[in-house]
Amino acid sequence: MSSTQDLDYPRILFQYNNGFLVSNIMFTACELGVFGLLLASEGSLSSDAIAERLGTSVSGMERLLDACVGLKLLEVEMKSEGAFYRNTELSNLYLTKSSPKSQYHNLMYYSKTVYLCWHYLTDAVRDGKNQYERAFGMSSEDIFGALYRSEEEMIQFMDSLNAFWSICGRDVIAAFDLSPFTVIYDLGGCAGGLAQECISLYPKSTVTIYDLPKVVQVAKERFVLPEEHRITFHEGDFFKDPIPEADLYILARILHDWADDKCMQLLTKIYKACKPGGGVLLVETLLNEDKTGPLEAQLFSLIMLVQAEGKERMPTEYSKLLAAAGFREIQVKKTGKLYDAILGRK
Ligand SMILES: C[S@@+](CC[C@H](N)C(=O)[O-])C[C@H]1O[C@@H](n2cnc3c(N)ncnc32)[C@H](O)[C@@H]1O
Repeated sequence: MSSTQDLDYPRILFQYNNGFLVSNIMFTACELGVFGLLLASEGSLSSDAIAERLGTSVSGMERLLDACVGLKLLEVEMKSEGAFYRNTELSNLYLTKSSPKSQYHNLMYYSKTVYLCWHYLTDAVRDGKNQYERAFGMSSEDIFGALYRSEEEMIQFMDSLNAFWSICGRDVIAAFDLSPFTVIYDLGGCAGGLAQECISLYPKSTVTIYDLPKVVQVAKERFVLPEEHRITFHEGDFFKDPIPEADLYILARILHDWADDKCMQLLTKIYKACKPGGGVLLVETLLNEDKTGPLEAQLFSLIMLVQAEGKERMPTEYSKLLAAAGFREIQVKKTGKLYDAILGRK
């Protein structure tokens, strides 16, 4: 082992050790409105001005801003009056609430919910199950009951899911030619981010968002615009209630919530409902077959441990589940983004 490699170990170690500090700096700057204020002011501001406008201490704000500069979330310019801060392109694009690609709501969901649950990661690994009882005093059996413990939490979760689709929804919907499928059901379609991508790419298709009644009500009221008339809604529980006939069923980030037996139950039901020649599109983040990564998928899999009943899977694992339910001609498409697509045909 060369001495140069040895020298890198402490750097890597400290980087990992500081991971949660870095997340918290970004969460705090977002929550306080630093990036939104700097976008609106269309120029640079001093830390005193930022602190005053956002109602914080000057000493705290100055240190937060400097750390954001270290993370390349802000740029600083030294003038005779002192330091002046402005957003970087990354912050303007992804950290301001108003940007079309904003990840603000996703970060807030991580800050307010995921972060709290991860306090119990050690317990989750010991117990092999989600930590809603410890984190929120809620039943670990009813994961969506715990996730939707208030309407505010549900909206935050829905906003967070849609934030991902604003940056990679088009890639998963375009991964296969879905134009032959005109009647599409997005099972667990939630806030409709993917349904919106789908109708914009396939002008002859209609998409029905099938989700739990309280989710559908909020999706209708707050997320899907009335002019998007090719999107309709269906209130139901996909484990207990009938699934209507369709050409294509989208299951985006659904199977990763559930253990294999529940996935089989759902896929078998979908296979029965599916028109002959129709199909099912799985949208998930895929683990490498040799277990080497990608790190994002490995992290998501731990999120599933701490907050759900399922896990992230490899393409062969999804293919096996699809084949066992009856689907054939299974194709896997990696998009190079966070989420990939798998199509199975009936
Ligand atoms: C992880 S979210 C994925 C949402 C959406 N497909 C996306 O990728 O943005 C899981 C979705 O499944 C819905 N869901 C959970 N259990 C359900 C059930 N039994 N019946 C119908 N929908 C359900 C949830 O309400 C939620 O919208």
